[in-house]
Amino acid sequence: MAKIVFSAVQPSGIPTIGNYVGAIKNWVGLQDEYDCIFSIADLHTLTVRQTPAELRARTLELLALYVACGIDPEKCVLFAQSHVHEHAELTWILNTITSVGEMQRMTQFKDKSQKHAENVNMGLMDYPVLMAADILLYGTEFVPVGADQKQHLEIARDLAMRFNSRYSPTFVVPEPLIPKCGARVMSLQDPSSKMSKSDLNLNGFISMDDTPEEIVKKFKRAVTDSDSRVCFDEQSKPGVSNLMTIYALFTDKTVSEVEAEFDGVGYGDFKQRVGEAVAETLKPIQKRKADLLNDKDYLFSILKSGAEKASYIAMKTLRKVYKKVGLLQI
Ligand code: TRP
Repeated sequence: MAKIVFSAVQPSGIPTIGNYVGAIKNWVGLQDEYDCIFSIADLHTLTVRQTPAELRARTLELLALYVACGIDPEKCVLFAQSHVHEHAELTWILNTITSVGEMQRMTQFKDKSQKHAENVNMGLMDYPVLMAADILLYGTEFVPVGADQKQHLEIARDLAMRFNSRYSPTFVVPEPLIPKCGARVMSLQDPSSKMSKSDLNLNGFISMDDTPEEIVKKFKRAVTDSDSRVCFDEQSKPGVSNLMTIYALFTDKTVSEVEAEFDGVGYGDFKQRVGEAVAETLKPIQKRKADLLNDKDYLFSILKSGAEKASYIAMKTLRKVYKKVGLLQI
């Protein structure tokens, strides 16, 4: 049997090209080699205040995007987290072996508590435990995540080992699968921070729904430096290096190939071509996504069968866990 891969994205806002190359694009390449389970982490999204109708719409949109990007519902299990109640239930059990202190020390919790100071809710602090439950329910061997999620994966590993040693071997201890090529896409306006869909400066990120005109315009406005050479140097030329990384990722070239290609080319032309390459890649994805969103029955059928397949595995894991911790079975 193939090893199990699990990953998820939150349906919060429209994903950026950073989410695409950092997560979804890599998943496509894993589906032939592994048993892949990809989820829409809607329960996680509730840790920040949402508009209910928007959350519902974005859940379907994210599913459509997964499929449009090439994730095959025939090969993978695709489902929404809230459709498999075992996620919330295993979270409760894992909460009882998680200390408050270790959650308070999580980098993302500290960042988000500052950003949403008016709403530092228990869910926000419990975020990593829910993520651990996501992963551990399925006997996951590998978790493809961006570097920013490494600390959360570490918690999932700790909790798995803690449970296994307190009770008996139950959970597989998961390993991160961090993309090789520096798939960290930075803001186009501030290359020292990660590209983010919640950036207040709309020129900082490219969303997966941006039109070709918007994309080219945003790349034209991207910050570079006062030099004029297209060469890779993250220290002294972070803006240009970020654009080169994006171009490399979208054209499946190496950074040195990109360097050779733009030798002697000015920044203006370079930025134009990066914009065009990104727009060109997104065009067919956007078209497929729009078509899929016109076929809601199909999308719902994917979610239904995904939830059934996921539940089958999750139920078996949770039953074992309930038994081991001493909950009476009837
Ligand atoms: N927290 C992840 C993110 O924001 C999304 C996520 C939820 C996830 N559950 C997961 C990722 C389980 C990997 C495995 O990117």
